[in-house]
Amino acid sequence: MSNGGVNEGRRRFLTAATSVVGAAGAVGAAVPFVGSWNPSAKAKAAGAPVKANISKLEPGQMITVEWRGKPVYIVRRDDTILANLEKMNDKVRDPESIEQQQPGYVSGVARAIEGKEEILVLLGLCTHLGCAPMFRPEVGAADLGGAEWLGGFFCPCHGSKFDLAGRVLKGVPAPVNLEVPPHSYENDSIIVIGVDQEA
Ligand code: FES
Repeated sequence: MSNGGVNEGRRRFLTAATSVVGAAGAVGAAVPFVGSWNPSAKAKAAGAPVKANISKLEPGQMITVEWRGKPVYIVRRDDTILANLEKMNDKVRDPESIEQQQPGYVSGVARAIEGKEEILVLLGLCTHLGCAPMFRPEVGAADLGGAEWLGGFFCPCHGSKFDLAGRVLKGVPAPVNLEVPPHSYENDSIIVIGVDQEA
């Protein structure tokens, strides 16, 4: 009888261990650069900060990390992308992001920490009804307005569009810009989601 209890306990342990390995494998496959930086599932559930290594992120590329159960998009931009943001100022609803969709240390049309304008950090949740917008950086995409489209994010649920600073375009269902979560830099390679940049 006592053996049965031991086996039962061991079976439960093995089941739990298997599901943890399965979950870690799935995250590793989807987020190639950050797998080794993620804290434990328990720590993440408690809202722990998440670190991401952005050293291999090329201009025009995006990685996604999970923070507090939400997707966080990290995009590297180049001078061309940053210059195009200025051209979008009259096409977006809130060019200077006065609607409190970002921390105070994030500013300008790039919506980035000063000196780190090439990096964009956004919550990957549409401000309409919370779908995950798709990363569509290609300039002139025919299905998104052709020459008018200078790259950005497209929400497949109801068609909201955002530029490459997460600013919502005029005339779409989403009412405000995508949110910039608290973040800071440990060094040039490591970005920390969930910890505010110190003044
Ligand atoms: S949820 Fe994105 S447009 Fe509706």
